[in-house]
Amino acid sequence: MKHLRSIAEAGPEALIRLLDHTDTMVEVNERPVPKVPALRGKTVCNLFFEDSTRTRLSFETAAKRLSADVMTFTVKDSSVNKGESLRDTIETVAAMGVDAFVIRHRSSGVPWQVSAWTTASIINGGDGWHAHPTQALLDAYTVRSALGRSGGLDGVHIAIVGDIRHSRVARSDVEAFTMLGADVTLVAPATLLPPVASAPTTDDLDSVIEKVDVLYLLRMQRERMTEALVPSLREYSTRYGLTPERAARLQEHALVMHPGPMNRGVEILVDPAELPGAVITQQVTNGVAVRMAVLFELLGAGSGLTS
Ligand code: CP
Repeated sequence: MKHLRSIAEAGPEALIRLLDHTDTMVEVNERPVPKVPALRGKTVCNLFFEDSTRTRLSFETAAKRLSADVMTFTVKDSSVNKGESLRDTIETVAAMGVDAFVIRHRSSGVPWQVSAWTTASIINGGDGWHAHPTQALLDAYTVRSALGRSGGLDGVHIAIVGDIRHSRVARSDVEAFTMLGADVTLVAPATLLPPVASAPTTDDLDSVIEKVDVLYLLRMQRERMTEALVPSLREYSTRYGLTPERAARLQEHALVMHPGPMNRGVEILVDPAELPGAVITQQVTNGVAVRMAVLFELLGAGSGLTS
């Protein structure tokens, strides 16, 4: 595998392989010194043209735990502000010697465009509304491990709730969850659904909340909205927020997930620390191991994961 730009492009075999490799990386991360020399001599560059906390820092941590060198680029400190183009930026950084770029950009399709300008591997760290494949991998891994599964997610019922229309996380999650055999329901008002939905939809959270194994809450992406798509945030919260009353109706084993950052008081009106099924912190922890598995898959061919 050369690139990880979308779940669909990776396919089911690579998806399962990456989840299985993540088990190994979790074991590495539990060691007293969580570091292996697997990617010594490799260089990973994080190119973030959009804000990020989790994705950027976990890729940086993942690369360092595999002993790769890391370059981190944030647009606000770069010559992009002097008018340098995306292509010139990529070619300039690539000339310093880069084996993999992790790219986040507000425009859909940028990771594919960039692949034409460099021989380095490209990992999509989130492109516009389109895809966020490593988020989907860490979400699938979290569901798999929290529900005690090995292999896929056959028969697991997952409701993804909220601003699906603007969500690259939802698009990649639907691809990954359905590829692994889960049944996905998209829950949102019609204005927050895409014109063509990739899974069954409902606008009634209360009709599914007692049946799901996983309740996946999404952030309202107000920065991507150009018009008012819900009458008010208060009304949205009333119909789609996880209130204490709705939390009490979840099945005992049900997981509550969120990709972060959370809008407390909008999509989540309970303290996740008080919810036994909340695995939001585990998602973040697993994000490092998943990204180690991805970097090792793309850059570690032929090398072992020796201690
Ligand atoms: N989930 C996610 O992509 O978070 P960041 O925007 O903080 O990277």
